[in-house]
Amino acid sequence: MSPPARPRVWAVVPAAGTGSRMGHATPKQYLELGGRPIVARAVQRVASDPRVHGVVVALREDDAHWSAARPRLHCALWTVVGGDTRQASVLAALDWLVGAGESHDWVAVHDAARPCLRPDDLRVLLDVALADAVGAVLAMPVRDTMKRADPEGRVAQTVSRDHLWHALTPQVFRLGQLRAALRSAEDAGRTVTDEAQAMEDAGLAARLVVGHADNLKITHPADMALGEQILAAQGADD
Ligand code: CTP
Ligand code: MG
Repeated sequence: MSPPARPRVWAVVPAAGTGSRMGHATPKQYLELGGRPIVARAVQRVASDPRVHGVVVALREDDAHWSAARPRLHCALWTVVGGDTRQASVLAALDWLVGAGESHDWVAVHDAARPCLRPDDLRVLLDVALADAVGAVLAMPVRDTMKRADPEGRVAQTVSRDHLWHALTPQVFRLGQLRAALRSAEDAGRTVTDEAQAMEDAGLAARLVVGHADNLKITHPADMALGEQILAAQGADD
């Protein structure tokens, strides 16, 4: 019997959202930042590491913008139809990937709305994840004082920020384990907000890798100006 193939690395980009908080007729991932669609930048950034073998982007069924936004990559790029939630969109891409990859392959899931990921952060993340038994997520330690509010919007409690992190993307896990974890959340009608939560529910603890705050998730209209500034400060020529 031949030995198992060396695990490959894939990227999955969920891009099937509507961007309701952005309040724009065009879904936010197709708005231009630094003269290029946000999703084109996010896909290019997550494919910037030469270890990434191919990218799967999940799109809305009625998507009318992708063909114009599609970036050129050094690796393969495919699309699938996403679902009604982020988790369903990621799962659709993973379901497609099982036909191309192996269960022990790694998958880096990265939001289409994060166009400013640093290639260096991706490199360090992959270094840590690929050496780990479970996988790893890019994250930032919380630095502000944290408050829990009461229903009237008054401070009910100060929450210690010790051991508290903001979870970012990419999040890197084994294809088979991540698919099984998301599938069981989906089948149980449980919504998880990121991959690490699905893995956590399956008893698998991800490593936290310190990223940078400029890996902004474009969410509200004011984030566009900030995103432009970040790209300029990064000297982005991509
Ligand atoms: N996403 C997806 N499929 C969905 C919902 C979200 O692929 N059914 C993707 C979005 O396109 C985005 C990422 O998941 O790249 C993170 O989601 P978010 O920032 O919440 O984007 P939206 O859901 O589009 O925005 P909003 O919540 O404001 O409607
Ligand atoms: Mg959303």
